[in-house]
Amino acid sequence: MKKAVFPGSFDPVTVGHMDLIKRAATMFDEVVIGVLRNTTKQPLCSVEERVALLERLVADIPGVRVAAFDGLLIDFLRQNKACAVIRGLRTAADFEYELPIAQTNRHLEPEADTVFLATAPEHSYISSSGVKEILQFGGEITGLVPPEVEDFLHRLDRGSQE
Ligand code: PNS
Repeated sequence: MKKAVFPGSFDPVTVGHMDLIKRAATMFDEVVIGVLRNTTKQPLCSVEERVALLERLVADIPGVRVAAFDGLLIDFLRQNKACAVIRGLRTAADFEYELPIAQTNRHLEPEADTVFLATAPEHSYISSSGVKEILQFGGEITGLVPPEVEDFLHRLDRGSQE
């Protein structure tokens, strides 16, 4: 059984993330979405909120589940008996950032590989940080995040308080 982890902050989850999750689910028997708990950045959504949102969004995707993690990604991978890490690449800058991380993870766990998925071109400009900034200044996030996430963020209304 081929299992992968798809780690990230998902603060918030975007339509780009969802596309990657759906595509990864067709490539592996199981995909565990790992929501990073300890982040140095002040998150917009708590880890419990991010996990709950993702659980709703992946409920209809067979073979996908969601878990929070902290510490080393490679330990999360081992705990889940996964053989691969999934990461999306939007731009060459993403690749330059991701490659040494993938190589560090491979150093820590030579059995683990990172699988890079090219982000769909129509999503290549979308980022969680961009969504947060738009929200902070009261802009429109329709189309950047799934409708459920948009509803949640509007109800949360934390972005405009910062
Ligand atoms: O969505 P993000 O914020 O780009 O995700 C980053 C993430 C969670 C993949 C990365 O921060 C991570 O793997 N953190 C765990 C710490 C770790 O394993 N570091 C060692 C590799 S250099």
